[in-house]
Amino acid sequence: VTLTSCGQEAKPAQAGELLRSKAKLPAPFQLPLPIPPVKKPIRSDAKADYYRVVQRKASLEILPGLKTEVMGYDGLFPGPTFDVRSGRTTVVEQVNELDVSTVVHLHGGHTPAPSDGWPLDFIMPTSGEHGDHHMMGGGDMTMGRRTYTYPNTQRAATLWYHDHTMDYTGPQVYRGLFGLHLIRDDEEDNLPFPNGDREIPLVIADRAFDADGSFLYPAAKDGPGVESAYMEGVVADVTLVNGAPWPVHEVDAVRYRFRILNASNARRYELAFSNGPAEFVQIGSDGGLLDVPVEHQTIVIAPAERFDVIVDFSQYQPGDEVTLVNKLDNNANVMRFKVARKAVDESNIPARLSSYAVTPRPTGVVRREWRFRRGGDHSGWTINGKAFDPAVMQAQVKLDQYEIWTFVTDVHHPVHVHLAPFQVLSRGGKAKLAEFDHGWKDTVDIRPAEVVEVLVKFTAHKGKYLIHCHNLEHEDMAMMAAFETI
Ligand code: C2O
Ligand code: CU
Repeated sequence: VTLTSCGQEAKPAQAGELLRSKAKLPAPFQLPLPIPPVKKPIRSDAKADYYRVVQRKASLEILPGLKTEVMGYDGLFPGPTFDVRSGRTTVVEQVNELDVSTVVHLHGGHTPAPSDGWPLDFIMPTSGEHGDHHMMGGGDMTMGRRTYTYPNTQRAATLWYHDHTMDYTGPQVYRGLFGLHLIRDDEEDNLPFPNGDREIPLVIADRAFDADGSFLYPAAKDGPGVESAYMEGVVADVTLVNGAPWPVHEVDAVRYRFRILNASNARRYELAFSNGPAEFVQIGSDGGLLDVPVEHQTIVIAPAERFDVIVDFSQYQPGDEVTLVNKLDNNANVMRFKVARKAVDESNIPARLSSYAVTPRPTGVVRREWRFRRGGDHSGWTINGKAFDPAVMQAQVKLDQYEIWTFVTDVHHPVHVHLAPFQVLSRGGKAKLAEFDHGWKDTVDIRPAEVVEVLVKFTAHKGKYLIHCHNLEHEDMAMMAAFETI
């Protein structure tokens, strides 16, 4: 048993084997926090905004003095941020100028199936061997491009988009295919939250770098079930926030709103401020605003989860430095805030945030169990004993009715459901909502040998959708299942 400085028993380290960088790494807190640029539409009409994104390689200076080749949306790492209105349609033409096939999924989107990013609905590369004509599929696709339509008929929330290519999501997200998609609405606009440059996305992802600056990722996948180096998922030694290693950001001594996304392939974080009594006031989760704010001393965040939080720096003096660390990794650095000056703060956190209401547990509804385990029809990761098979629908789910889904695990798995968010009903047999389970979620972290029940209802869109583990290496090793809404 290891003891941390405050005398508590240390939490178990990350399960996966740590990938260590060979490159010269910068000292922490030297590089400024980048803010991903907001994507501009190429045109708009009464109902929709139209965008074009080019997926391409780019050579970026992530580590000072070295070049890292990324695969990025518009060549960026992370990709550009979509900042859109609830109820207005976003149409994105994705152009693939990479040399591999890709698929785009809007994580948390209530998206019609043809635009949801089915893992075989490839955008073929415009050149190279994968561009073979006979592999061309669906209707709205011409070689090298595909148009995705997102109706955004959902409340304000912090969503993200990322690659979802069958068997290759892990390496392709790792190389850069991820970005934010923020939906705003009037309910949220009317709240006195910090805004403008006091509303900041924090997209956290771990990466390892080879001596020349290129990304390190375990070699080509050995096939499902193999005892590969990344059976537990890839965890790496450099923490990037918005694409910069251990960055620093100057703040006024006021409240800030941080939209935190864990975009890591497999790493969990328990975010805390190493110095000072600062706390996080959670205002939103994956699916938008909570009903009331919830205070946390730390934030435990699994891959793909989002926490929308407000942090008040007013207790600090100009010159103070506040370091965000990961308590699950011996207080490893994440980033630092430097308090620069006192300033006027007109923001506030109302006692009531939204009309979202916790739905009481219904009786007499359909129940389904989803077992996330190792073994079954192959020796790797499975759901209900089966490796992902795009031809097999593991469930047929009627629209507009509640169902209670039970998630059961062997080891730790962050479980994600496409199309609709859910509410956690119980965890480990306890009906009292656990600290990090508030609000509408689309990803829920199931701890080893734990049982979590959620209440789910799909209100629109018939078609094929996915449930899977969001440890991306588990997902690539077939821990994914298809269901059909009818
Ligand atoms: Cu964030 Cu099916 O994925
Ligand atoms: Cu998993």
